[in-house]
Amino acid sequence: APSDPDLVERARAAKAALGDRVFVLGHHYQRDEVIQFADVTGDSFKLARDAAARPDAPYIVFCGVHFMAESADILTSDEQTVILPDLAAGCSMADMAAIAQVEDAWEQLQAAGVADRTVPVTYMNSSAAIKAFTGRHGGTVCTSSNARTALDWAFEQVGGVAGDGKVLFLPDQHLGRNTAVRELGLSLDDCVVWDPHRPNGGLTPEQLGAARMILWRGHCSVHGRFTVDAVETARREIPGVKVIVHPECRHEVVELADEVGSTEKIIKTIAAAPDGTAWVVGTELNLVKRLAQQFPGQRIAFLEKNVCYCSTMNRIDLPHLVWALESLVEGRVVNPIVVDSQVAADARIALDRMLALPG
Ligand code: 13P
Ligand code: SF4
Repeated sequence: APSDPDLVERARAAKAALGDRVFVLGHHYQRDEVIQFADVTGDSFKLARDAAARPDAPYIVFCGVHFMAESADILTSDEQTVILPDLAAGCSMADMAAIAQVEDAWEQLQAAGVADRTVPVTYMNSSAAIKAFTGRHGGTVCTSSNARTALDWAFEQVGGVAGDGKVLFLPDQHLGRNTAVRELGLSLDDCVVWDPHRPNGGLTPEQLGAARMILWRGHCSVHGRFTVDAVETARREIPGVKVIVHPECRHEVVELADEVGSTEKIIKTIAAAPDGTAWVVGTELNLVKRLAQQFPGQRIAFLEKNVCYCSTMNRIDLPHLVWALESLVEGRVVNPIVVDSQVAADARIALDRMLALPG
């Protein structure tokens, strides 16, 4: 639906009144009505890198989800305040790994005698507490655009990919498995899934001993719903179609795709393709619709009819953005995201390791 013209005008006026005092960041999955007001758009890696790009702006309004706003708070100065226009904009995947469960799993890995050969790598889509855990135990954060480099780095810490060290990958089993198998040359048998609801993750000592990738049992409730059947249907119905999906999709789906990448990579790949290319895209619907509008010379369709928007990304809508901006104009800060300073310091170690990765 087109955005309410009254609210558009109010957002514009509030942003103009705030001028350089506000910096608005928008993730690619945000609604059109919101993304039009972003000073910078990006995938989660680009937004983490760009969060500190405007050190003189006292307010950063983060149009995305909670873990991204936390990361922005960690990566910016204490003088800057990060605002999440709706606090209910969480991430179901990030919620699948609670810090107490992860600490508990680590103790079990210690008891099993494998923790000293294991490096934690956490996907950006995790709480600040889990990034802090990762920082304390010698690990790094990764995003979908640098997962391969991050895993290479992590295995280097324990003797290389060819050795017998392990990575504990949190919390997205699909990104971990897809990267390990497609990009590091590990096998599906090298990957085991740690179920936090079962003793010893549901793994025997032999399974744990032989594993190279210990994948946390988490997934994205949006990307996890794309199916092999949808890919096969698209290939049957659209001659010459190219299938492009996000690495949060299940391994079987990713295996059938022509291209796999983060949101930023999906946009760049489609932008570089010749007119007339037919695509089906397996990522969040706001982005797919925007791509179809931006590249009318290409035929861009959504991979699966039964998959819908990311409901938490969609919590950030124009009324919430207007409320956050107008409050600032009136001198009130609503919904600040403030990470505890000790957690932030430890999480920063893991985030800085990611930002220092090559490429
Ligand atoms: P990227 O922004 O890294 O592509 O990740 C997608 C996502 O699901 C963010 O929540
Ligand atoms: Fe979380 Fe998936 Fe939504 Fe991204 S798309 S915020 S991973 S639930």
